[in-house]
This record gives sequence, C-alpha cells and structure tokens, in this order.
Amino acid sequence: MATVGKVIKCKAAVAWEANKPLVIEEIEVDVPHVNEIRIKIIATGVCHTDLYHLFEGKHKEGFPVVLGHEGAGIVESVGPGVTEFQPGDTVIPLFISQCGECRFCQSPKTNQCEKGWANGSHDVMSPPETRFTCKGKKVLQFMGTSTFSQYTVVNQIAVAKIDPSAPLDTVCLLGCGVCTGFGAAVNTAKVEPGSTCAVFGLGAVGLAAVMGCHSAGAKRIIAVDLNPDKFEKAKVFGATDFVNPNDHSEPISQVLSKMTNGGVDFSLECVGNVGVMRAALEACHKGWGTSVIIGVAAAGQEISTRPFQLVTGRTWKGTAFGGYKSVESVPKLVEEYMNKRLKVDEFVTHTLPFEKIDDGFDLMRAGKCIRVVLNY
Ligand SMILES: NC(=O)c1ccc[n+]([C@@H]2O[C@H](COP(=O)([O-])OP(=O)(O)OC[C@H]3O[C@@H](n4cnc5c(N)ncnc54)[C@H](O)[C@@H]3O)[C@@H](O)[C@H]2O)c1
Ligand SMILES: [Zn+2]
Ligand SMILES: [Zn+2]
Repeated sequence: MATVGKVIKCKAAVAWEANKPLVIEEIEVDVPHVNEIRIKIIATGVCHTDLYHLFEGKHKEGFPVVLGHEGAGIVESVGPGVTEFQPGDTVIPLFISQCGECRFCQSPKTNQCEKGWANGSHDVMSPPETRFTCKGKKVLQFMGTSTFSQYTVVNQIAVAKIDPSAPLDTVCLLGCGVCTGFGAAVNTAKVEPGSTCAVFGLGAVGLAAVMGCHSAGAKRIIAVDLNPDKFEKAKVFGATDFVNPNDHSEPISQVLSKMTNGGVDFSLECVGNVGVMRAALEACHKGWGTSVIIGVAAAGQEISTRPFQLVTGRTWKGTAFGGYKSVESVPKLVEEYMNKRLKVDEFVTHTLPFEKIDDGFDLMRAGKCIRVVLNY
C-alpha cells in the first residue's frame, strides 16, 4: 500500500476542549511503532463513555483528544515486532488489552491487563504514546483506541482479529456496548436460570444486559428507565416488566422489592448515577441478591449504602467490558452474532456519515437513540 511507512493525513473529530462540539480536522497519524498496528477505521459507534469524557468527566487535562472506542476496521500496516497481524486483516480495536502474560491475564478471575494503555490518567494515553498530531499539536488518544479518526494506531495486545465477512457497521458495537452489558449479566452477575433480574438504564449497555439475563434463562427481567420510549426496545431483548421511577412516589428499590416479594436476585446498573447504584443494590433480595455496577459515574462521586445491606447477604460488584478477556473473546462473540445467536443489528437506531458526529452526540444526549453508528 502506498501509505505504508509514511505519516497519513486524514480526517478525525477532534475534541479541543470539554463541553464544546467536536471539530472535523485534518490530523497526521504517525507510522505504527514497535508492537503497534495502524488501522483504517470503517465504522464506529458512539458510546455514553465518549459523551462522559466530553461533557461530564470534568477532566480539563484530557484534551485535545480524539474520542471513540467502539470501532471496527482493516489493518493498514504493522510496526516492528508484530507477527500475528497483517495488512488487510479485519479487526476490532479494544479498550481493554489482553497481553496474555501479566498476572491479570494469567488469572481466570479478571479481564484487567496491566500492560495496556490504562495508566490511570483520565482515560487518555500520555502524549508520548499518542500517534496523532493536529496543527503542530499532539492530540491525545482515548482509551487506547480513538476510533473517531479515519486511521488510528493501537498496540497489538489491544486488537481482536475477526471474521473478514462480518459487517463492520454492526459488529463495531462488540468493541464496547454489547459485550459490556451482555458480559455483565452472564460473566459478572452470573445470572441463573429461573431468576428475577432488574436492569437500570436501557441504553445499548442496559439492553445488552437485558439480552444477557434472557440468554442466561432469567424468568423475569424488570427494565427500569426514566425514558419510557426505551421500553418497546427492551421487549425485543427479553424484558418482561417495565418500570419508570417517575411513575412512583416511593423509592424505586421499594417498588421493585414489592413487585418481587422481597427483591430481585440480580440487578445491573447501566446508568452511571451513584444514586441509581445504591437503589440497584437495595433492590436486591436479602441473603443472596447480587448487584453489578457498569455505569461510569461523574468525577469525584462516591457510592454509599448501609453496611447492613451487605451484612445480610447482598453482594456488590463491578465490571469493565463485561468481564470478557478481550482479544480471545471478541472474535467468538462476532461468530455468535454471525450464527444468529447474539443480537447486534437491533441496537443500531441511526446510521450517519462520519461528518455528522455532533448530531450523533446530540441524539444520545436527548435519549433519542440506542446506538448511532458513524460510517467513514
Ligand atoms: N463498565 C464499562 O465497561 C462500560 C462500558 C461502556 C459504557 N459504560 C457506561 O455505562 C453507562 C451506560 O452507557 P450507554 O452507552 O448505554 O448510555 P445511554 O446514555 O445510551 O443510556 C443510559 C440510559 O439510562 C437512562 N437513565 C438515566 N437516568 C436514569 C435513572 N435515574 N434511572 C433509570 N434510568 C436512567 C437513560 O434514560 C438512558 O436510557 C454509561 O455510564 C457508560 O459510561 C461502562
Ligand atoms: Zn463504551
Ligand atoms: Zn495482561
């Protein structure tokens, strides 16, 4: 390819500062360094975590940045030391790496990996690690991925090679939202057949959690959202009951407790609100109820509950990327989708050209979409 070994000039949506619309700019994408892969992004979803960084996270240092972490594309070129990938491979970049060697990767108990980009500083890579430049300035990469760019550079331990016949404008959602919610139910909560579940927040993550509860054999799945427009979609994924907290004067945990004769067996928080996290825990049944936190809460917020809630046998857990070990699991989930055992198309409510990315953000903020997919 004519671009191999050269800096690529391409379009990207740059977030210059917090709380401002993204700007489509021409950026320069460096060649892949040792162990890195340069990927041509074909399609990307917009996740609430992108919105969170721009509007809710209040991290003034995390800019300028190229957001996006739910993409799919084709390998353009590889850096020195990369042997498992070649130009032309179909891939999904991953915000959780799987090096296969660290103490986390060696443990079956977790999908965290200590070799990844995540260095604790506001979801962005440090300036020396980023391969983007715009107008002479280093532009940061988000969650090790940055899929809101025509080309991006990702470490090989954070790339999944997938079936080349998979449609990239849908399987891109396996880069975050669908795996996150589905895995939270099946891997982290370990939902049991015949159980009663409650899912708080019916965005893509919550709906995928509903789908996970359904696939695990839950007999009752209570879908909770302030936006009643989401209930119709929740039915598609297997929800059996629908509750809008605004329709009730008493706290939602009590509403659910009454509906279920003492509480649900499993609850999943897919909103990112510490009050909802507490309600989700307290809606669980005494003795065995398990609540999983998936949502990302606003900066500085803390969770609380009375210790008695846990002393009497409830369990509080959390999960990133649905507990999936990323490199090995994403190709399998793509296969599940290709074999029609996993719904993905149903999450896509809007498809827009990349240039309309700000409209995608507006749709999500207004609660008018499940997932917007941007095509390059
Ligand atoms: N842990 C992870 O790995 C991970 C990965 C992806 C996303 N997330 C987080 O998961 C959350 C959901 O992401 P999404 O993309 O589905 O978001 P979304 O904005 O599409 O959906 C959120 C839903 O929550 C509903 N909601 C808001 N307040 C509520 C309340 N008080 N009670 C009930 N419902 C309420 C909204 O109406 C909306 O339907 C976000 O916090 C996101 O940052 C976490
Ligand atoms: Zn996400
Ligand atoms: Zn590792």
